Amino acid sequence: MNGKTVLITGASSGIGLLVASKLHENGYKVIGTSRSPEKYQVKLPFKLLPLDLNDDRSIASFGKQLFSHISQLDVLINNAGYLVNGLAEETPIDLGKQQFETNFWGTIKLTNELLPYFRKQKHGKIITIGSLLGLVGLPNVAYYAASKHALEGYFKSLRFELNQFNIKVVMLEPMSFKTNIGESGTIAAGSITDYDAFRQKVTAYTKSAFDKAPEPAPVVAALLQAVKEKNPKFGYPVGKGSSIVLLLQHFAYKVFEKSILRSVNNSK
Ligand SMILES: NC(=O)c1ccc[n+]([C@@H]2O[C@H](COP(=O)([O-])OP(=O)(O)OC[C@H]3O[C@@H](n4cnc5c(N)ncnc54)[C@H](OP(=O)(O)O)[C@@H]3O)[C@@H](O)[C@H]2O)c1
Repeated sequence: MNGKTVLITGASSGIGLLVASKLHENGYKVIGTSRSPEKYQVKLPFKLLPLDLNDDRSIASFGKQLFSHISQLDVLINNAGYLVNGLAEETPIDLGKQQFETNFWGTIKLTNELLPYFRKQKHGKIITIGSLLGLVGLPNVAYYAASKHALEGYFKSLRFELNQFNIKVVMLEPMSFKTNIGESGTIAAGSITDYDAFRQKVTAYTKSAFDKAPEPAPVVAALLQAVKEKNPKFGYPVGKGSSIVLLLQHFAYKVFEKSILRSVNNSK
């Protein structure tokens, strides 16, 4: 045991499961969460606690529950989240609100629930899994990208405010990686005929992006680095080509847009 305790939300699947398992292997005391821990616990070497980011009561009782299992929390990894797919105008506002309820508000509410513990112990680290889509936009994921952009802005501000308590605030910004996110999310049905041709291409483009996505080993490595780093920077973009995408976004946005539109239009 290296003595450090890490809480990771959404540890039943994908990135959360891989990171929690790796940290456990490396001697960290790991607590994970799931909406249905009973479904996964038997197969896991670390403790899973129930947490639903869409349920205020679940979040409000979480701190007490957590600290009945541990006495100190060194790192919170806000990982739980999901994806709403669909063209912006065709996505019902309620689906957009649900996307924010989980990805943004749920994450903020849980962070607030745990901040008094972090402030009291005068150290800690909060690592939130954003997305490269919190830094750039792509078609078919407007609400997801918006929820991840919102997290970027929020945690960038929070970082200044928590510095005085020796609490570090970090964001990981992965590109697309193979997990269950493509299947576990929601897809808004097409309803506006003007979009029919574009929707067909963008659906093919999105499917091909999921099919071609690499295994998430680089995300696990970057998270481990952020957990270990004494004075971590704010943002950790992860994935092949992510730095080029960010460079284009800042210095050659037209080139970025053209290359995305070309890829979408060439998709069948
Ligand atoms: N995969 C990618 O390409 C990619 C890229 C960039 C960022 N990300 C981000 O990485 C994070 C993990 O995603 P993933 O790709 O590993 O997807 P995943 O395999 O679908 O895992 C999502 C996890 O989130 C949990 N979760 C979902 N809704 C929840 C809710 N309402 N309350 C509590 N937990 C909830 C799920 O747990 P239960 O179902 O057991 O509750 C599950 O463990 C997400 O924040 C995602 O946006 C993923």
